[in-house]
Amino acid sequence: MKVLILGSGGREHTIAQKIYESPNCDQIFVAPGNAGTSAIAENLTLDIGDFEAVGKCISNHNIGMLIVGPEAPLVDGIKDYFDDKNEFSDLLIIGPSKRGALLEGSKERAKEFMRTHQVPTAAYQSFTAETLDAGKSFLETLRPPYVLKADGLAGGKGVLILKHLQEAQDELEQMLTNSKFGQASEKVVIEEFLSGIELSVFVLTDGENYLTLPNAKDYKRIGEGDTGLNTGGMGAISPVPFADETFMKKVDEKIIKPSIDGLTKENIDYTGFLFIGLMKVGDEPYVIEYNVRMGDPETEVVIPRIENDFLDVLIKTAQGKISEVDLNIDKRSATTVMLVSGGYPEAYEKGKTIHGLDKIKNTDDVFICHAGTKIENDQILTNGGRVLAVTTFDSNFESALRKGYKIVDQIDFDKKYFRTDLGKDLV
Ligand code: AMP
Ligand code: GLY
Repeated sequence: MKVLILGSGGREHTIAQKIYESPNCDQIFVAPGNAGTSAIAENLTLDIGDFEAVGKCISNHNIGMLIVGPEAPLVDGIKDYFDDKNEFSDLLIIGPSKRGALLEGSKERAKEFMRTHQVPTAAYQSFTAETLDAGKSFLETLRPPYVLKADGLAGGKGVLILKHLQEAQDELEQMLTNSKFGQASEKVVIEEFLSGIELSVFVLTDGENYLTLPNAKDYKRIGEGDTGLNTGGMGAISPVPFADETFMKKVDEKIIKPSIDGLTKENIDYTGFLFIGLMKVGDEPYVIEYNVRMGDPETEVVIPRIENDFLDVLIKTAQGKISEVDLNIDKRSATTVMLVSGGYPEAYEKGKTIHGLDKIKNTDDVFICHAGTKIENDQILTNGGRVLAVTTFDSNFESALRKGYKIVDQIDFDKKYFRTDLGKDLV
């Protein structure tokens, strides 16, 4: 089978690598891809928001499976676009329909869905410019810190957590009447602050049955000790040491089952990944958010732990036969350390030569994943804020990380930055 993966980050490189290992994989295309994917796939220059162009490419290359990496094309309805066209009736698609993707595309919709299906989450109310005063009054009834969420997609920046009431009221006004996050903040969800420790749970579903993939914890902030600005993710660990069997059983019963049953009950066409961001409050799981795709950098530690023929798993998912799959998971821990361009997540430079990659081989316990890279004149150059994800395996996360940091030292580019404290919060 020929597979097209949409996206260009570490998530897409990892998925491509896993599919590349499948005996049933004839060829992989990645649009637009990066230097890492170009070694195992053909990169295509393609605007992934232009569904007609994606369709032409699918026809021209005789592609049998489309995997959508990022959320934007899903929220814009790429699944529905191809489902509606006879000529693509045989195309297998990994990614939910537009109605399914709304679980990420609208925070209010996600909260309503959780309320309807009794999935534990923080109490909330949502407001628009017309109800700004009611929103300010609602804030007065809450205890600090205050959580404000732009309803729509805001590139991971739409959540504000504020210590002071006045500040929260001012920000609410900025969001609703001054388009602080553009259209995304025309509606704002205000919710109760949950105090606990976060983890990410990943589910692959055909809309009826599901497989729970390995869980992971990511490190969101740029600075040591989880301080400073939010990033796309500076590293990840799988499995999460504090998510023991008893806790994960609770997650399955209270969170995953009702969420998937909710999709079925509402007749939502959902074939793909559901990424559930959780807060563990005491011993209880609460949903912080749904994403309708895999996480990045969580993918870099979650997918490599799956021992099955991954293409086969995805084919069964898209065919509605996920119940036929038994997952085999590598017992070892996987960790990833993200190497980023100095300055990220604010302004940074691109086009720096990456040294040392030629001396590092991918093995059973090392995978060098490309996030923001490109090839020019046979040289691998930085091409994004997040540049490389160094994934390593070992019997526990501490030794996996030690291995990872040794490899990190062998890779160099101008203004290379990474966090040295991953996992320290867990010992
Ligand atoms: P989100 O974009 O919904 O993942 O939110 C971004 C981050 O804000 C999350 O990863 C949490 O760290 C934090 N957050 C979101 N909602 C809450 C909440 N209700 N209580 C505490 N922290 C939250
Ligand atoms: N690492 C968080 C995300 O992918 O949204």
